[in-house]
Amino acid sequence: MAEDLHIITGNKEEQYQSLLPQIKGLLEGEKDLIANLANVCAALKEQFNWLWVGFYLVKNEELVLAPFQGPVACTRIRKGRGVCGTAWAEAKTLIVPDVEKFPGHIACSSLSKSEIVLPIISNNQVIGVLDIDSTMLNEFDSSDQLYLEQIIALIPF
Ligand code: SME
Repeated sequence: MAEDLHIITGNKEEQYQSLLPQIKGLLEGEKDLIANLANVCAALKEQFNWLWVGFYLVKNEELVLAPFQGPVACTRIRKGRGVCGTAWAEAKTLIVPDVEKFPGHIACSSLSKSEIVLPIISNNQVIGVLDIDSTMLNEFDSSDQLYLEQIIALIPF
């Protein structure tokens, strides 16, 4: 089975529009969570070439590093800590245009300049987060939130 991703150029919306059905196809018929999270990271990283794309999953009241693409990252984040732990505690998406201005930001890579973190909610509980870092300031906006929420909704948790 060919699993090549079709990468396009274009504006952000066009890139997401092209990626969404491809991610849907990648996830269809596969129930293994690690396999699915790994492919979602790879697809996002390949299309957008962001610095870091990855998941943290809640385990024993901590966020624990899960499939990701990019530089090595911290393995555990406590609730309320950093952007990820805050998105978890507040159960809401955080868009950080300049990570240096986010009090308590956890710098896994000095190259990271902006970040978006979306909580993954199942049965009214945050079970993990999707974290994306960019080397550019002000990379993410509400359109990223919208499309990334749609991508998260495709994953069978
Ligand atoms: N910057 C995140 C930590 C995770 S790394 O960016 C991969 C934070 O402040 O929670």
